Amino acid sequence: MKRLLRTLIAAGVFAGSLASASAAEINMRLATIAPPGHNWVKVSEKLSKLLEQHSGGEISLDIFPAAQLGDEEGTLQQMQSGLLDMAVVTVAGLTTREQAFNGWFTPYLFSDVADAAAGSHTAAAQEMLKRLEHYDLVGLGYVQAGMRNILTRDIAVDKIADLKNKKVRITPFSAMKVWWDGVGAVPTPMPISNVYQGLQSGVIDAIDMDMDAITSLNLQAVSKYLILTKHMAFPGAILISKSSWNRLSERQREIVTDSVVEAVDYGVKDQIVAEQRNLDNLSKTLTVERITEEAFAEANKEFHKSFSGNPLITSFQKQVQKQEATTN
Ligand code: BEZ
Repeated sequence: MKRLLRTLIAAGVFAGSLASASAAEINMRLATIAPPGHNWVKVSEKLSKLLEQHSGGEISLDIFPAAQLGDEEGTLQQMQSGLLDMAVVTVAGLTTREQAFNGWFTPYLFSDVADAAAGSHTAAAQEMLKRLEHYDLVGLGYVQAGMRNILTRDIAVDKIADLKNKKVRITPFSAMKVWWDGVGAVPTPMPISNVYQGLQSGVIDAIDMDMDAITSLNLQAVSKYLILTKHMAFPGAILISKSSWNRLSERQREIVTDSVVEAVDYGVKDQIVAEQRNLDNLSKTLTVERITEEAFAEANKEFHKSFSGNPLITSFQKQVQKQEATTN
């Protein structure tokens, strides 16, 4: 038996497995606050598979959805101190590090997910990611959730005045607060994990959210009306901590970068289809209403007043509009 083994080794039969055993194995962890079933979790799972495939099993990635490893601020801090390798975070959460990310939430800048995905390729959007290096974070790319709409507990909304003084749950960050203040509602910051109970108990009257998150959290069970506004995009970003990035070889970095591009592309295609599927599903139990952009003119003005002083935001808006003008 020993003689047979020696012969096989000499013939190079085990060369592949010996090579991979001697290569440094990289095991990474990725956190996201998005719930299972959400596009960002699907993209993360796809990324995990691609890394394993492209590295021949050398790189593995474990996914922790639904804030299992902490809220977004905690996630960013863990990454900055090198305790966590990767994350898919809301771009909203990144505004605490780089103000210009607020530009992504320019109301009605994008008409749908495909438009928002195209915005990722602008020089301004790439510059925003690059600025994360000041915080020991490497921005690898953007992921897209669906467009933001409004879900109400029991308020029928056919004009904007119906939302006046109503408590509307928002993702906690400034662009959304400014816009909802402009609507005349009471924007109520609340983490995604508390929203089901908030609607059920009546602590909030309505929420601002994408349909993927609404569906993943089964929020239709505690609501009556879906107001289709598509007023903002809601991108996330795939990040790797600087210290994890520095530990990778050139070849491993290439595998990570290429796998992210592939996973993001998969996610955009999936989300474009999911928008209609989610609407069809939600329409079965919710009354669907529509309010057009014109009704939100005051709120849109308030947004522009607050953020027009930031040159990178202005560049981003211009580059997106230019891109849209050439594709339409
Ligand atoms: C939200 O805060 O609305 C949210 C967070 C993560 C994924 C989707 C939505």
